[in-house]
Amino acid sequence: MTTRTIRDLTAADLAGRRALVRVDFNVPLDDAGAVADDTRIVAALPTINALLDAGARVVLLAHFGRPKGAPEAKYSLAPVATRLRERLGRPVQFLTETVGPTAVSATRALAAGETLLLENTRFLPGEEHNDEALSRQFAELGDVYVNDAFGAAHRAHSSTAGVAAYCRPAVAGLLMERELAYLGGALAAPERPFVAILGGSKISGKIDVVEALLPKVDYLLIGGAMACTFFRAMALETGKSLVEPDRLDMARDLLARAGDKLVLPTDAMVAPAMDRTDAAHVVARDAIPSDEAMFDIGPDSVLHYAALIASARTVLWNGPMGVFEKPPFDAGTRGVAHAMAGATDLGATTIIGGGDSAAAVAEAGLESRMSHVSTGGGASLEFLEGKTLPGVAALDTR
Ligand code: 3PG
Repeated sequence: MTTRTIRDLTAADLAGRRALVRVDFNVPLDDAGAVADDTRIVAALPTINALLDAGARVVLLAHFGRPKGAPEAKYSLAPVATRLRERLGRPVQFLTETVGPTAVSATRALAAGETLLLENTRFLPGEEHNDEALSRQFAELGDVYVNDAFGAAHRAHSSTAGVAAYCRPAVAGLLMERELAYLGGALAAPERPFVAILGGSKISGKIDVVEALLPKVDYLLIGGAMACTFFRAMALETGKSLVEPDRLDMARDLLARAGDKLVLPTDAMVAPAMDRTDAAHVVARDAIPSDEAMFDIGPDSVLHYAALIASARTVLWNGPMGVFEKPPFDAGTRGVAHAMAGATDLGATTIIGGGDSAAAVAEAGLESRMSHVSTGGGASLEFLEGKTLPGVAALDTR
């Protein structure tokens, strides 16, 4: 990895200095307004602790939800500050301002070992425009810039990218480093066989990642409703399944080019409608009834995919195999998750590419049995598509 990280900083870079750390604390809240899933908060702790242990004063910047460039109570980071305090077990101040003289004074008043979380960066109109004046204001909040927000690194915003030009050194945090090492390692030098599994409803949303992965993998396993567009391209009956008619040519072209590398489900779990779980049944992929739709891959496909996963040395997964929130349409997704956990036990490197697949793995209680579960949704997808992430590109290189 060529990006510099906090490991490359000297004691003098950190002791007594203000480390301005961009984190991704975009977490779900429950009905009572408390943090419902603190995975992203916990994932940032190693960086925060390492900086505090090095004697730095930590100033945290984060976005939360999608406010439109102005304060909105429901997008306040206050509940996040509460959870961070509990998880960090060290003092955390929270300020309802983000930039300006009060915020700068608060950063200067921090004692060693103290952390300050500033209010939602997206309350500021310039943030999402990567506004230069705002980037300079952010830079006044720290002496060193650390980007640990992998999940937001695909955004070219003032707090994720622009600020790095005015606050140097600008380096990656430990979470960012880990994400780039696992995802980048799989793309650059995977131990083989390398098996990727892609799911989700639409081929249109995954086409760039299919194209990027195809030359690199030994097998690309397809699941989710996306498989139905391939089935239709193969002239199979797909009933009421979700098919993208405008992507049929693309699917035909991929089938012709990919050969045996592209592996499709052999059977499907179908039902007359998504809420008719009572009527769910398994059919061969060429026997989908005209008045039913596919909502999961079938058990035969799961066995086949599990065997390929078990034989792999590197496994990368992005996107569910079916409507995993609704049993029995969760069987395919669970099957893949268990097969990956087994592959980890056999010594393979197993990587979950964030978003829904990360949620499914957490739901199955298998997070700790994967080599790496990415905290990025859109960011991991863009990274796997081979795109340069602005939040990474803005950092110092070795
Ligand atoms: C995410 O939740 O994927 C990141 O925090 C990015 O959020 P955004 O899609 O609102 O930019």
